[in-house]
Amino acid sequence: MPLLKVENLKIYFHMPRGNVKAVDGVDVEIDEGEIVGVAGESGSGKSTLALGIMRLIVPPGFIEGGNIYFEGKEILHIPEKVFNSEYRWKRIAMVFQGSMNGFTPVFKIRDQIKEVLEVHNYSGDPDQRVNELMKMVNLDPSIADRYPHELSGGQKQRAFIAMALALNPKLLLADEPTTALDVITQTHIINLLKQLKKELGLSILFITHDLALMSMLADRIYVMYAGEIVEEATIENIVKNAKHPYTQLLMEAVADIRKDYIKGIPGSMPDLANLPPGCRFHPRCPFVMDICKKEEPKLRVVGSNKVACWLYQG
Ligand SMILES: Nc1ncnc2c1ncn2[C@@H]1O[C@H](COP(=O)(O)OP(=O)(O)O)[C@@H](O)[C@H]1O
Ligand code: SF4
Ligand SMILES: [Mg+2]
Repeated sequence: MPLLKVENLKIYFHMPRGNVKAVDGVDVEIDEGEIVGVAGESGSGKSTLALGIMRLIVPPGFIEGGNIYFEGKEILHIPEKVFNSEYRWKRIAMVFQGSMNGFTPVFKIRDQIKEVLEVHNYSGDPDQRVNELMKMVNLDPSIADRYPHELSGGQKQRAFIAMALALNPKLLLADEPTTALDVITQTHIINLLKQLKKELGLSILFITHDLALMSMLADRIYVMYAGEIVEEATIENIVKNAKHPYTQLLMEAVADIRKDYIKGIPGSMPDLANLPPGCRFHPRCPFVMDICKKEEPKLRVVGSNKVACWLYQG
């Protein structure tokens, strides 16, 4: 049984111009102790997916359908009070996109972590727990007695991860935890996440637009485009044998960055409230065929990968 199973999840933002289909029928599974990546360009729905798992979608966003199971129990439709007391932060925690700047500037780090413990009726000594948490993320406990602005970017991100781990969750959703950090600090955060997986048996859903970074960490990857999963494979198969044209272009973009030349992917993400018919990637795809413009390909097993592309179907 997977630790987390997201089934046909749909999250739409009801906007005046129409429904923005940010997450549109997504299936994701994470096993215990597994690091799973979600990769895709900005605007593909990665953050909305993670916020949906945390049940933090607020209007104009609405959950339009699907189920989420945690340790086999459905958790998307249980009462908010039960989800909040038993799952949110306790079993599933999240490092939000931009969370590095998410600490309140006027309170010391220690007080902010203690507040999380208090709200959830932590029964042990809160100061001792803060010290433990700081050590867990390789920070000296004395750093907790500083104000957020007295920490470097990397230290703030570690402290936020410590706060997310306060109640010993089984699953951590990490939304772009290394963006806005320098390359060396990024590597330190990646190594910290690996260490936490090993020491705590933590499962991690790691979200990034950076496939190179993801390849250093994830066991398995979901590639997301315009609200849908277009490819799923082990990291090895994504790096050596990406099948979906979008994944191939993402991989090429990584290789080009290494060569100091950013080619990027031509064109841009469609308006999610006004999606092109057929394959959502067809206006940008170098291999587009007639059928791609008319019918939407479903995710199917192709060798060791799962791919949603007409090149491999029909
Ligand atoms: N609160 C919101 N209100 C309206 N639209 C939103 C909101 N949050 C996200 N969206 C839209 O949903 C789509 C997916 O966004 P997001 O999940 O943030 O993508 P990613 O994390 O992959 O960059 C985008 O088109 C974005 O504009
Ligand atoms: S279905 Fe067609 S347009 Fe879409 S990625 Fe495959 S070849 Fe390209
Ligand atoms: Mg995001």
